Amino acid sequence: MWSKILVAGTLLTSALAGVIDLTVPSAGELLSELDAVLHPQSEPHLISYNENYLDPETQTNRKHCTLRARGDEKDDSDNLVTAVKKCGKGGIIKLPDANYTIGKPLDIYLENAVLDIHGWLSFTTDIPYWIEHRIYFPFQNQSLAFVIRGHDYVINGNDKGGIDGNGQVWYDYAKDFGNKYGRPMSLTIKDSKNVVVKNFSIIQPQFWASLVWGSENVLFKDFYVNATSFNPESSSDEKNWLQNTDGSDTYQSYNVTYENMVYQGGDDCIALKPNSTLIVAKNVTCVGGTGIAFGSIAQYPGVKDIIEDVYMENLNLYPSDQCPGYQGVYFKSWIGVPVGHEPNGGGGGYGYARNITVKDVYMEDIWHPVVVQTDLTYLDIDRSQYTDTSLFEWSDIHLKNFTGTGLGNRLVWMNCAKATPCFDWTFEDIDLKPGKTDHPEISYTCNNVVLGGKDGLNQCHPSNSTLETNAGGSI
Ligand SMILES: *[C@@H]1O[C@H](CO)[C@@H](O)[C@H](O)[C@H]1NC(C)=O
Ligand SMILES: *[C@@H]1O[C@H](CO)[C@@H](O)[C@H](O)[C@H]1NC(C)=O
Ligand SMILES: *[C@@H]1O[C@H](CO)[C@@H](O)[C@H](O)[C@H]1NC(C)=O
Ligand SMILES: *[C@@H]1O[C@H](CO)[C@@H](O)[C@H](O)[C@H]1NC(C)=O
Ligand SMILES: *[C@@H]1O[C@H](CO)[C@@H](O)[C@H](O)[C@H]1NC(C)=O
Ligand SMILES: *[C@@H]1O[C@H](CO)[C@@H](O)[C@H](O)[C@H]1NC(C)=O
Ligand SMILES: *[C@@H]1O[C@H](CO)[C@@H](O)[C@H](O)[C@H]1NC(C)=O
Ligand SMILES: *[C@@H]1O[C@H](CO)[C@@H](O)[C@H](O)[C@H]1NC(C)=O
Ligand SMILES: *[C@@H]1O[C@H](CO)[C@@H](O)[C@H](O)[C@H]1NC(C)=O
Ligand SMILES: *[C@@H]1O[C@H](CO)[C@@H](O)[C@H](O)[C@H]1NC(C)=O
Repeated sequence: MWSKILVAGTLLTSALAGVIDLTVPSAGELLSELDAVLHPQSEPHLISYNENYLDPETQTNRKHCTLRARGDEKDDSDNLVTAVKKCGKGGIIKLPDANYTIGKPLDIYLENAVLDIHGWLSFTTDIPYWIEHRIYFPFQNQSLAFVIRGHDYVINGNDKGGIDGNGQVWYDYAKDFGNKYGRPMSLTIKDSKNVVVKNFSIIQPQFWASLVWGSENVLFKDFYVNATSFNPESSSDEKNWLQNTDGSDTYQSYNVTYENMVYQGGDDCIALKPNSTLIVAKNVTCVGGTGIAFGSIAQYPGVKDIIEDVYMENLNLYPSDQCPGYQGVYFKSWIGVPVGHEPNGGGGGYGYARNITVKDVYMEDIWHPVVVQTDLTYLDIDRSQYTDTSLFEWSDIHLKNFTGTGLGNRLVWMNCAKATPCFDWTFEDIDLKPGKTDHPEISYTCNNVVLGGKDGLNQCHPSNSTLETNAGGSI
């Protein structure tokens, strides 16, 4: 049966008839009344349903829903949920139009399904609404706008669509705060298995553009994120208020791959949060922000965190015209003693990161090309008293073939903690050039790095590097 229409029922027809029959005084009143009646089942033609669509990719017959946009900034989220209910198990949900308005948080379930997006899911900008209706993400008390669960599904942005977070209002709102409460993430892959997100873009994300949480076997391929501030005032801050616009974060997830990713923004391009294992990134370009981050990690006292089995190759890092490249490859763990609490305080977690390879990295004008920071806290406290306390261990980490330029004197700034020295690190063909040469003694700074054996860190030998007891320097 071709193109069966989802019918909302006779109730609607009679309701409509009722409205039309009225001799209403003003067209305006009629319209608003119509609008109230018409929401959203009143537009049954917006979802067409085909029970036996021949999927050219699989050569099988499957359910197919096509969802049209309502237009005029009217909320499409209920219709999307309806289409997912109809076709989200075993079917294809096609969104052919240029712009769908999403005015409500979405938590959808897909199984053997394709979400085929040809335009933008455009999120509304009512900040108090989104804060009040946030989907809760316990890590750092954060918030989500759009969650997808399930298994064996594909999210296809068809190379020209995806999510428009309309994040400018959030950038303005959060101008002076990291992790400002209630800012929701654009896309979360949650409790999912066997997922492909492809040819997909996220522009103007409200907060982190994407999160993979509690999931396994997730592939992002041909993935584009761009957070740019269009508020001229924001240039007063060299970050342009773009903090927390991460490209993609992994949390409690196994086997996540990023292939051909381009990020522009003001924060982490990719970040591996607690319990990220078997993470692969290939051909990733990061423009502006804090680079490829391992962490932050060990923020929660007494909680064990792990980052393990990571392979990355062909990473390219640049500053953007509105945000410097602060870090290149950045390993960051919290102080070993809890001070304050999350989101921006904490510490005292433990655990380890190991079996990490990062190779073929090119950087241009990055302030800190390679950094290990183990005394992280975002509180305004004197960190020096906690410098050596970290309980999180960084080992079996291999960096190879790094070329390009730093912006300052520092190239490699390994500030490992006395309590958990870094060991079994190898550097091979690290050929970065500093941007400044007035302090050559700090181009390699290596605190609490175990040398010898196969560590290969010649530059970290005391005769070649500086031991800084005061880790606060920033030249
Ligand atoms: C898309 O929808 C959003 C939200 O309704 C609206 O603000 C925006 O102007 C629309 N964009 C286009 C290109 O129509
Ligand atoms: C999250 O932050 C909000 C706003 O500060 C606060 O009201 C709430 O108690 C926090 N929740 C948790 C679990 O910390
Ligand atoms: C993305 O789209 C391009 C152009 O249509 C296509 O060549 C490429 O294979 C697509 N990528 C994926 C992962 O499907
Ligand atoms: C990881 O996920 C990919 C799909 O993205 C799959 O092909 C591969 O077999 C998985 N690897 C492991 C070790 O599970
Ligand atoms: C990101 O968007 C801005 C503004 O549209 C644009 O100037 C910039 O080139 C984009 N960045 C990338 C990497 O595409
Ligand atoms: C790397 O990614 C970029 C951006 O997605 C793409 O244009 C390019 O073809 C990719 N290179 C390879 C070797 O796949
Ligand atoms: C990470 O995994 C370890 C070992 O399975 C577990 O003990 C710990 O609770 C996990 N931590 C988080 C934050 O999920
Ligand atoms: C190290 O991690 C890589 C993936 O990044 C994996 O293929 C390899 O098996 C791991 N090695 C060990 C000894 O587990
Ligand atoms: C080093 O990495 C660059 C990319 O940054 C790549 O073009 C080059 O082939 C790599 N060199 C070797 C010897 O693999
Ligand atoms: C100091 O670094 C140079 C250049 O990498 C290396 O040849 C030399 O062996 C290092 N010195 C020591 C004592 O490791």
